[in-house]
Amino acid sequence: MKLSHDPSSPEFQARRAQARKALDAIDPAMTGDRASESKRQQWFEAVYSRAENDPACVPWANLRAHPLTAAFVKSQLRGIAGLRVLDVGCGLGDNAECFAAAGAKVTAFDFVADAVAWAKRRFAESKVDYQTADLFALPQEWQGQFDLIHECYTLQAMSPARVPQALAIFRDLLASDGRVLIVARARDEEEEISGPPWPLPPSIFDVAKEQGLEPVMIEDVAATANVGRRHWRVLMRRVG
Ligand SMILES: C[S@@+](CC[C@H](N)C(=O)[O-])C[C@H]1O[C@@H](n2cnc3c(N)ncnc32)[C@H](O)[C@@H]1O
Repeated sequence: MKLSHDPSSPEFQARRAQARKALDAIDPAMTGDRASESKRQQWFEAVYSRAENDPACVPWANLRAHPLTAAFVKSQLRGIAGLRVLDVGCGLGDNAECFAAAGAKVTAFDFVADAVAWAKRRFAESKVDYQTADLFALPQEWQGQFDLIHECYTLQAMSPARVPQALAIFRDLLASDGRVLIVARARDEEEEISGPPWPLPPSIFDVAKEQGLEPVMIEDVAATANVGRRHWRVLMRRVG
């Protein structure tokens, strides 16, 4: 039987639910084992290798750019062309491709080599420069090189303790007058969470400021059929 690659099909959703259950069972963050960040990386590696090319088994892979990212790109269309864009935690590459289609010069990275290889296979003719790299150990020559850093669902996928350092790294990657675009699930400050993922609270903006980033646009996007749950879409620049 040919497996559906349509994320809206019930059969795709059933495969995803089955994969999600198996992945939760081995996720160190779900099982209370927070001893080591490397275990979380191993979990991401397991997600992509167990999937064996079936996108239904990669819980966040919807085979299209995130609607909030796509709408941002559309709204800025002429302003995107020529920008040096960095896509953080690119997964299967749909967001990176969306920026490239609008004329940006895109570098996209993920710390899982299988994800990067899969993105390259999917977009064999792509102009995107796909790289295997860890956000916390990026090449020195990337510092100060990007006009736009885009991250979708990667901050919320890391343990909250690592988020301040991640934001500081984003700041250092920005060229002068560069921007950071964050698309993430949102929550109220006092809302209980049991991540992963760990939706971002409003205090993320204070944390960002401490790391030298200030919002120039904050959108608190209500849950809709299009995005499912409440989200932030935030644009930040360097302080000062
Ligand atoms: C929830 S997925 C989102 C993927 C993609 N941005 C999307 O929206 O489909 C998070 C991605 O970030 C990657 N990732 C997590 N931590 C990372 C790190 N420290 N450096 C690079 N990639 C990372 C994971 O391997 C995974 O592909």
